[in-house]
Amino acid sequence: MSQAPNSPATKIRWSNVCKRFGDKTVLNGLNLEAKEGRSLVVIGGSGTGKSVLLKCALGLLAPDKGRVEIDGKAVKAGRHDDPGIAQIGMLFQSGALFDSLPVWENVAFRLIQHDKVKRSDAKARAIAALGQVELGADAGEKFPNELSGGMLKRAALARAIVSKPKILFFDEPTTGLDPITADVINHLIRQQVSELGATAVSITHDMASMRVIADDVAMIDQGEIRWQGELSTIDACENERVRAFITAGQHG
Ligand SMILES: Nc1ncnc2c1ncn2[C@@H]1O[C@H](COP(=O)(O)OP(=O)(O)OP(=O)(O)O)[C@@H](O)[C@H]1O
Ligand SMILES: [Mg+2]
Repeated sequence: MSQAPNSPATKIRWSNVCKRFGDKTVLNGLNLEAKEGRSLVVIGGSGTGKSVLLKCALGLLAPDKGRVEIDGKAVKAGRHDDPGIAQIGMLFQSGALFDSLPVWENVAFRLIQHDKVKRSDAKARAIAALGQVELGADAGEKFPNELSGGMLKRAALARAIVSKPKILFFDEPTTGLDPITADVINHLIRQQVSELGATAVSITHDMASMRVIADDVAMIDQGEIRWQGELSTIDACENERVRAFITAGQHG
């Protein structure tokens, strides 16, 4: 594919990805690119396969057909040592913290287990990351079941960003948060991309959040990307599904 001289390289590419569960086809030849150092937001209705598309890139699900490539290499499902997957920091839609570990240790988990950072240093970094999402060190000492839903979401976000990964996946990062905290999170995501040069792929139903986070937007519908473009072009977009989605969002 030809590329304009200054256009960023493709960091992640979904090529003809098909994923079925039983007789239900979720992804039906999906093609999508996330550009290096840019923030891509994927929008689309509930159950359209947004989380599945991230899980295919994370190697948690294997596509039935097609492939996901990171830095031009196909990711191998189920392989934690895959160099593409190892670059990803992930905020799961459910939060997915370990109940048996205090919050700081959840945040520091990858630093201790994967990056072999000394426990005391990892804790300091975890507490700093919790501070970025406006959680104090006291929240770090609690267990996940002692936090509110919004606090859990923020702790999960701290865990995703603590190791300053090259790639960040955020699945519904602001759902369930009050508007002020949501705004803090949106700007934090933006900052990860602008200051650290990360490549971000976020899923959101929150159109205000999309407008802060996104450089590029893609809309998934019936297993395929129906529209994609730069955020600045979305208001002029004539695709009916996109229009319905963004105008519904404007009215709450
Ligand atoms: N492991 C699985 N086994 C069976 N079906 C699955 C599995 N994971 C996802 N699905 C199905 O795939 C479809 C897409 O799921 P997915 O979680 O990607 O939706 P989504 O677009 O993220 O929705 P939401 O906005 O509600 O989070 C759903 O019908 C879901 O039930
Ligand atoms: Mg989902």
